[in-house]
Amino acid sequence: MPEVVLEADALKALVAFRRSLRRAAPELRRDLPWIAHDDPWAVFVAEIMLQQTSTGRVVEPWRRFLDTFASPSSCAQAPLAEVLRLWSGLGYPRRAKSLHDAAREMCERFDSAVPASVDDLLSLPGVGPYTAHAVASFAFGAPVAVLDTNVGRVLARALANRPLRPREAQSLASKLLPREGAAAFNQAMIDLGAQFCTRDPRCMSCPLRRACRFQREGGTDPAPRSAAVSRPQASFANSDRQVRGRILKLLHETALTRRNVIVGLADVDVERIEVLLAQLEREGLIGRVAGRFVLGGHAEVAR
Ligand code: ADE
Repeated sequence: MPEVVLEADALKALVAFRRSLRRAAPELRRDLPWIAHDDPWAVFVAEIMLQQTSTGRVVEPWRRFLDTFASPSSCAQAPLAEVLRLWSGLGYPRRAKSLHDAAREMCERFDSAVPASVDDLLSLPGVGPYTAHAVASFAFGAPVAVLDTNVGRVLARALANRPLRPREAQSLASKLLPREGAAAFNQAMIDLGAQFCTRDPRCMSCPLRRACRFQREGGTDPAPRSAAVSRPQASFANSDRQVRGRILKLLHETALTRRNVIVGLADVDVERIEVLLAQLEREGLIGRVAGRFVLGGHAEVAR
């Protein structure tokens, strides 16, 4: 029966890859301060920051953030404006508001601690399947597979040698996960995807080359450019995202009138500024006090 033979072959390949990855893990390991960190809050903050920002740009803001907010309760007690100021340089500031809201929920619902289960983590603002699995695995050692863009590429190339739909990738990632040492294994998968199994893969120097199906069988790259699990980011220059960031930066120092903001962004269309101010206000990232825009939302101002 050919299917059974294929199944057995696939299983053998899976076991061989797992073993090779374990062996290569020390070589793949990067010196990142949140790896194997024993404080779940530090891991949680790192994973929120890493959602849309590259590792190199996260290290310093992560340290700064934890120096100021060493626990969910210290973050929850601070005004959002302070959290947004610390977020400077990371972009996507809605994550800062979600993190602040998540810290407050941890205090209200989880005894001021990061919850350990995937379901509880998923119930927090700003936490999707990737982050929930990453925190459950890295902070609590839960035996769950972590699947991000990098890992999706590794699975498509090394094990399937064909593009994978997100569900297939999740199922394959779960099958691949060893029973023991899941966190170290997940980290090694991320590290492999970040350093060798990159968008333009570095196959010749990859320590997993001999365990890789794409290398063995060849063909077209099954994970070209953007893997199925993520969307490419739009260009930043003069994007709404960039102008929103500039508005928030202006408000870091002081409260400003609408006119002040318009003068501060002299190169930007007034109508566009109005739209973005309204958007930021709706999202709770800015509020108004006595006719001036301030960092942080309405709830903040009322406190
Ligand atoms: N990207 C997302 N999570 C990561 C982690 N734990 N280590 C390195 N890069 C990551």
